[in-house]
Amino acid sequence: MGVDGAGILVVGATGAVGGQAAGQLAGRGAALALAGRDPGRLRERASALGGRPRRSFDAYDLDGCARLAAWAEGELGRLDALVVAVGVAGFGAAAEVSDASAEHLLTVNALAPMAVVRGSLDVLSPGGAVAVVTGAIVDRPVRGMADYAAAKTALATWLGVVGREVRRDRIGVMDVRMPHLDTPFAARAAVGTAPALGPGADPVEAVREHLVLPLLDALGR
Ligand SMILES: NC(=O)c1ccc[n+]([C@@H]2O[C@H](COP(=O)([O-])OP(=O)(O)OC[C@H]3O[C@@H](n4cnc5c(N)ncnc54)[C@H](OP(=O)(O)O)[C@@H]3O)[C@@H](O)[C@H]2O)c1
Repeated sequence: MGVDGAGILVVGATGAVGGQAAGQLAGRGAALALAGRDPGRLRERASALGGRPRRSFDAYDLDGCARLAAWAEGELGRLDALVVAVGVAGFGAAAEVSDASAEHLLTVNALAPMAVVRGSLDVLSPGGAVAVVTGAIVDRPVRGMADYAAAKTALATWLGVVGREVRRDRIGVMDVRMPHLDTPFAARAAVGTAPALGPGADPVEAVREHLVLPLLDALGR
């Protein structure tokens, strides 16, 4: 299955999941635009995929997040799909997590993805699709991750409602409940230290199965 020049914006393309999604979609013929925080890593990813348009952003700049889709449409000529794989882990008993850390986790894992999606709804072509990575934690919240789980669950709930609201515009909204993966995500936590999490799934296979193939399906490809 291919995507034959479909315009796709990957937000969080500097990360493991976003980078993997961008690579797989590029391999299937997508016209990609890439957004990420780290400018150096973003430049490398964009150039490794053949010189794609790129834009740096920070989750705390919600207006900037909301403008990403319009920027991508300007670069690509059309926007058929949006992938959002932005997030940061946080660990520790709820009583010990500071309000500043809680704000950070809610901003990066919920408010920023919501702003990116909100900014895309008037920009996506009819029949387009949005795929946002939440996580299996939404279905199985665990001790020591209350704030991270709350942020992902807020995002998942919001996506569910938005999906119903835009169905009449023929926009598909996917909540990608990715399983725990074999990536450095937990080691990059904004607060606390990860407990022993056990082996993670292969990111290549997981991104293909949970994100890329369902996205192609939603696009009717
Ligand atoms: N890995 C897992 O086991 C797992 C499991 C379930 C769900 N997920 C979810 O999958 C998504 C991607 O995870 P990953 O494994 O790819 O982790 P990752 O490699 O750490 O990537 C995280 C992404 O979020 C971006 N990001 C973090 N803080 C940001 C900020 N303040 N402003 C803008 N961007 C920011 C990073 O940008 P820079 O790299 O440019 O800093 C990167 O693009 C996250 O939503 C995560 O919750 C991961």
